[in-house]
Formats: sequence, structure tokens, C-alpha cells
Amino acid sequence: MRRRGAFGMAQPDRDPEWSTEDGQEEALPADATVDLAAERKAAGIDEVLASVDRELVGLAAVKTRIREIAALLLVDRLRERFGVSSSRPNLHMCFTGNPGTGKTTVAMRMGELLHRVGYLEQGHLVSVTRDDLVGQYVGHTAPKTKEVLKRAMGGVLFIDEAYYLYRAENERDYGQEAIEILLQVMENQRDDLVVILAGYTDRMDGFFTSNPGMSSRIAHHIDFPDYHLDELVKIAHLMLRQERYQLSCDAEETFRAHLQHRMHQPRFANARSVRNAMERARLRHASRLLDETNLCDREDLTRLEPADFGGNLTGAQE
Ligand SMILES: Nc1ncnc2c1ncn2[C@@H]1O[C@H](COP(=O)(O)OP(=O)(O)O)[C@@H](O)[C@H]1O
Ligand SMILES: [Mg+2]
Repeated sequence: MRRRGAFGMAQPDRDPEWSTEDGQEEALPADATVDLAAERKAAGIDEVLASVDRELVGLAAVKTRIREIAALLLVDRLRERFGVSSSRPNLHMCFTGNPGTGKTTVAMRMGELLHRVGYLEQGHLVSVTRDDLVGQYVGHTAPKTKEVLKRAMGGVLFIDEAYYLYRAENERDYGQEAIEILLQVMENQRDDLVVILAGYTDRMDGFFTSNPGMSSRIAHHIDFPDYHLDELVKIAHLMLRQERYQLSCDAEETFRAHLQHRMHQPRFANARSVRNAMERARLRHASRLLDETNLCDREDLTRLEPADFGGNLTGAQE
């Protein structure tokens, strides 16, 4: 079954689990039981949750919310099996926090999870900013926005720094047109895509104040706090492990001291700054090896030393 949504876009077929057309599935009798563990397993939810736990440091509140959403969708599915239907939950979200706090990464995981539980057809992430949605001239904005929406159908539309869509100082700004199209789709095509707005907390608050319609369509506001020093160090270890490097004890001390200084400076970008620092360290490590030695073993090739964190780590560049 292909459906046509607003703007004549072809809609992906709905997951049969979610379609409750008459006669499709016999409802279970009221005294039947279903095996929750088996259902979780079948949906593959635990794998996603476990990999989120394993691969993302900290973010306790975010992880709790992800688990709650997974539980809700699973229970909804089971209720449907008994013929107890409820309206499909609204899952448009807003992720607020500073750069590098994991918003994009979690949005990707969310898409994957929503796909596994059958809420989204595909669960892919389309990440955009104002320029992808808003045109420069009359008549350009609607086709641009619709094109993006079309790409995002069946998945997650992630709008980074969403507040740039709205320019209070300019009533005729084309951003307003994009907002109106988005609102319409968020309301009428909830089955087909999840919109996640992201950005700095204070600016996002301002955006919602000026756009109450948008605010009322967001079901989940999730805050991404800055990471603590220990979390940043853990993130560094995690990233290095994935690349098959390690920090010597002294190098960890050096890096920690640099971070402590750097995290209170402007333009510090949490885990993204850690990633950048690790990449610079790899560069220095490679040059150091070539400069210093003729013979090196596996350990030399995999272990970062204090000198690799020596240079301009405290500088402004990210
Ligand atoms: N909690 C975390 N644990 C491990 N790595 C993280 C964590 N948060 C972010 N990262 C990594 O930091 C980088 C920036 O994260 P990202 O999701 O792009 O942040 P944001 O979208 O908030 O700017 C990515 O490489 C991501 O994998
Ligand atoms: Mg991001």
C-alpha cells in the first residue's frame, strides 16, 4: 500500500505492526499472555540500548529517556496485539546542549531504535541546518524544504541550530515559510518521520517562546549537559580504544591537565574537542616516532606519550 501525504509525496508503507486495518490480525484473547523478554529480543531493542550504554560515556538522563521511549513503544505494540489501541505517540524531540555533547550521535541511535521497534520505516538520519531548508529568493523555500522532508521520510529529520529558522527582526524572512511547512508535516505525517530540533539551550528557549506552535508539537525535551573532566578523559580512552591506541599513564596526566585548562576556555566543544585533540596527538605521535627512532615495536606504535599532547592543545583551534 502506498499512501500519498501532503505535497503529493509518496509515503513509505507502514510497518504492518502499526497498521490496525480491520481483519489484518486477530487480537489475542484477554486471558492470553505475551513473553516480554522474547518481544524485546525479537525487536532487538536490547542491542541498541546496550551499545548506547557501552559507546556513550555519561549521559545518564538521556539514556533513561531512551529506555523509557523504547519501553513505551514496545508496550504499545503489545497492547495492539490484544486489540487495545491507543494513539501513536508523538516523538518529535528537542535536544539542547552545547556543541560536542552528543546530540547528533544520540539522534542517530534514536533513529535506529525507532526503526527496530517498528515506529519508523527506515530510521536513517537526515541532518540539516537553515541553509538546507530556506531559499534566498521568493519561491525557493518551499521546494527546498519539501525536498529535505522527502529525503527524511521514514527516518529522523535533525535540524541543527533550529532557531536560525526564525528571525525576529525580519517579518518577511523565508524561514517562516519553512517553519510552517515543518509544522504541517510534524502534525499530519507523524507516522512517517520524527523531527529532532537541536541547539543551545537558551536560544532554543527563545525560539519556542516566539514559535509556540513548534513548542506544542515537541513531546520530548532532552538536555545534554557538558561533560565533567573524568567523563572527557573516559571519552578519550574510548575513542583511542576504537582506533587501537592507548594512553600511557603520564600521557593521561598531561592530557587531563590540558583539558582542565581548556574546558573553561571559549570554543571548548566537549567530546568533539577531545576527538580533535586525539587526532592531533596521533599526528604528533607519528612525527615523533619518525624523528626519534629507527626501530619501533607494537607498543611504540600504539602508545601515546605526554610529548604527543605537548604542542598547541590549549590554543584556540579546534
Ligand atoms: N558520551 C559520549 N561518549 C563517547 N563519545 C561521545 C559522547 N558524546 C559525544 N561523543 C563523540 O563526540 C563527537 C561529537 O559528538 P556529537 O554527537 O556530534 O555532538 P553534538 O551534536 O552535540 O555537537 C562525536 O565524535 C561523538 O561520537
Ligand atoms: Mg551535532
